[in-house]
This record gives sequence, structure tokens and C-alpha cells, in this order.
Amino acid sequence: MLGVRGGWQALRHCSSLPRAVRLRVREALGARQPVGEVKVQGWVRSVRSQKEVLFLHINDGSSLESLQVVADPSLEDRDLTFGSAVEVRGKLVKSPHKNQNMELKAETIRVVGPCDTWLFPLKMKERHPLEYVRQFPHLRCRNNTLGSLLRIRSEATAAIHSFFQDNGYVHIHTPIITSNDCEGAGELFQIEMSHETRESAQKTHFFNVPAFLTVSGQLHLEVMAGAFTHVFTFGPTFRAENSQSRRHLAEFYMVEAELSFTESLQDIMQVMEDLFKTATSTVLSRCPHDVELFHKHIAPAQKTKDRLEQMLKNKFVTISYNEAVETLKRASQTFTFKPEWGCDLQTEHEKYLVKHCGDVPVFVINYPYDLKPFYMRDNEDGPQHTVAAVDLLVPGVGELCGGSLREERLPFLESRLQRLGLADAYQWYLDLRKFGSVPHGGFGMGFERYLQYILGVDNIKDVIPFPRFSHSCLL
Ligand code: 4AD
Ligand code: MG
Repeated sequence: MLGVRGGWQALRHCSSLPRAVRLRVREALGARQPVGEVKVQGWVRSVRSQKEVLFLHINDGSSLESLQVVADPSLEDRDLTFGSAVEVRGKLVKSPHKNQNMELKAETIRVVGPCDTWLFPLKMKERHPLEYVRQFPHLRCRNNTLGSLLRIRSEATAAIHSFFQDNGYVHIHTPIITSNDCEGAGELFQIEMSHETRESAQKTHFFNVPAFLTVSGQLHLEVMAGAFTHVFTFGPTFRAENSQSRRHLAEFYMVEAELSFTESLQDIMQVMEDLFKTATSTVLSRCPHDVELFHKHIAPAQKTKDRLEQMLKNKFVTISYNEAVETLKRASQTFTFKPEWGCDLQTEHEKYLVKHCGDVPVFVINYPYDLKPFYMRDNEDGPQHTVAAVDLLVPGVGELCGGSLREERLPFLESRLQRLGLADAYQWYLDLRKFGSVPHGGFGMGFERYLQYILGVDNIKDVIPFPRFSHSCLL
């Protein structure tokens, strides 16, 4: 009996069509030698018709570079325009041009889907500004910049997963709908049933308690770290905060890790630094052309490439919150928010500190107790004075990661939760400190801010697949 695959193969043998190897553009461009019969499918990026020859460039999203197709002018078709979808069959041959390795000598060109170039908002051979393509969230991925961005996003996602898997972490899918407010900052989106469902279900809350979109998977990761030792999650996160800024989103991706049997904040910082450097080196080596597009054309003035190379070679700098405030107080610059011990570091302060330390990533550690969430570990350097917290600040973006040691001592945690009136809601969390509690800690890194930093992108909305704008119906 033939399996499904065998069946397809048998059908292909019987078919009258010549057998053509289907190649992605990236594979065709990287081929070492000519291939007899190939088939390439994609969208036309340029058409140039000359007397003797017709030139096309086809892109299928597998690489920034398009594949040149050389054809007899008799194959020209009025539907063969910029933006149309095509299937080209022919021979893959060495290209006589020095800028490309291979080209496709077309035998047939089939227009699969025509494109009205008059109405199509993208134009042939134009470098559209990011602000322009943002108006077309449903079409902007056909543009080089967004194409490169999305390939980089995909490689970076894989690199982050590999980093953790290679280092013995277990990946956990933490809930997206949850009843806890991990950060306690009140930036929650509440989930409710639709009006009709609520009436027919005759109850107010679907889960009988108020439920929210997660602001962090940390507390659920802490549960899992109590069994698997080292765990991570990488999922969507939601915050109802000012998303008009250039570094805030209402929906973003966060990479979070939690490590049991960890007593020192430096160990957590080492994982942050290793993750950052490993993922970045992998992205730079796996999509050099895509990254180069950003460094050369989107942010050339920021010298992102040189900055990244330096950053990969050197150790990140560490300063304490105390030192940070002293440095800010001594600064000749006048700040809108006066730096004071006990106050949050504002973006203007973060920018100054990063510059002051030489435009390199800077860890700021040991923040005031009252500034940070309930789960952070008391440093016991005075009555509720500072906690073992760390923020990683990077040039151009500000805060990229936030982490801490967690309060693993039951009496400390219990009294803090009681003071906050949260002891009842967090009984389950207190249980973790009653049954085999261990020193532990972890951190979260904003994925979009990471991309902003390594690519030198000014507006965070330009590193997500679908920007949200009020005038767009594609929310
Ligand atoms: O500093 P945050 O709030 O830390 C936490 O949520 C911890 N529970 C993480 C942990 O320890 N497991 O957020 C972590 C990072 C920030 O440093 C920032 O990079 C990013 O998430 N972030 C945002 N990115 C885009 N838009 C927003 N609105 C963001 N809010 C936070
Ligand atoms: Mg933070």
C-alpha cells in the first residue's frame, strides 16, 4: 500500500508535466550549481522589458535579495506587473553578472494573481519611508524593510528559544488570561463576557473572579521553577499604559526566565547578558543582509553596527541605584524630573546614565524597597530600605530588562503581603514558600525593545508585524 506521500510521488511520475524542483528564492540564490528543471513562485519586484530580453525580479519572502529571471520577450503578458504573483518554470543557471550567483532562465511564466499597479500603494523600486508604509498594515510586509524585520523577528525568536533549550531550561506556556496582577501597577486589561453571553450565563464573571490579560508570566513561572529548577516563557503580554510613546505597546512579547537555587543577583544578570549576546550574535550571523538594511538605511546616524560590535566584546557595566542617583544629582544637565533617592528613574535619567557610562548597556541594581513590587527580596540593608532588583538600560531605548531575586522567606513575604492587603489573594504564592522554598530569581526582557535596540529603530511600532492605528480596520 502506498502512503499519502508515496501516492503523491506516484502521481507526479504519471503526470505529463515535466518534473520541476520547487525552489524558494533563497535556495535558488544559494545554489552551487545549475539545476535543470526548477519552479519558483513569488511576487514580482521589478519588470524590465528590452528588445531582446525580459528581466524580472521575484521575491517570495525567503530573503531580502530577489531572484533575477531572464526570459524571451514573447513571454511578456499585460498582467505581468510589479506586485503580481507568478510561477516561473525554467533552468537555474550561473549568472554572468558579478552581483549575483544564479539566475533563472524562464521557459514559462504564469501570472497566478495580477496586481493593479495604479491602485497598489507600494511602487516599484521606491524606498518607502516607515511612516508611509505604516498606513498599510495589510500590505507593508511586501516592502523590503518590513520583510527584513519579520525575518529578523523570526530568527531572534528561534535564537532565544535555542539559548534556553541549550542551557537546560524547560519552556512553559504560562496563561494569557489570569487573575493575578503580577506587577501591581494597575495597568491591566480586564476580560469580560460580551453583554449577550453575560445575560445568558446569568453571572458577572466567567471564572467567578475578575480576570485580566497577563502583564507578566513570572508568578506562574515561579510555580514551575519549584519543580523544574530552570524555566522560561516567551509569550504575549498586555499593558493598559500609554501606548502613544515610542517605546510602549499595549500588546508586546516578553521573554522571561526563572532560576531556582540562585542566591546572587549577579547570576541573574549573567543570564541576561549571555542571552542578549548569544541571541544577537546568532541574528547577526543568520541574517546579515536584513540587519545591514537597518544599520545602513534606517538608522545610519546611530552607528548601531559599531555599537553592537563593541557591546558583544565588552562586559556590561553595573552601578547601584544609589550611585545612579548621585551621578544624576552631580550632572550639569537640568532634568524635567529632579533626581531624588526613592523616586523612579525617568527616561531622561536612564538616557543620561547610559551616556555617562560610555553608551553601553548598564545594569542598575538595588532599588528602593517601596518602588518595587511585593515579590522582590529585601536586601536587609536598613528597615525596608532596598531590594535585590535589577534593570538593564540600553542606549536609545532605556529599560530593556527588569529582574530580581524573589523573596523566598515566608515571614518577610507574608508581612509584606499583609501590609498590602494581598495576603488572601496570594495564599497559593505563600504556599510556595511553605513547601520546599529555595532562593530564586528571574527576569523579563521586552522583545520589541530588544529589536529596537539591535536594529536602531526609533519607534517601537515599526518592529511589530501589525501596528495598531485608530484609522485601521485591521486591529
Ligand atoms: O520590568 P517589567 O515590568 O518586569 C516584569 O514584568 C517582571 N515580572 C519580569 C520578570 O522578572 N519575569 O517588564 C519587563 C520588560 C521591560 O524591561 C520592558 O523591556 C518590557 O518588558 N516592557 C514593555 N515593552 C513594550 N511595551 C510595554 N508597554 C512594556 N512594558 C514593559
Ligand atoms: Mg521594569
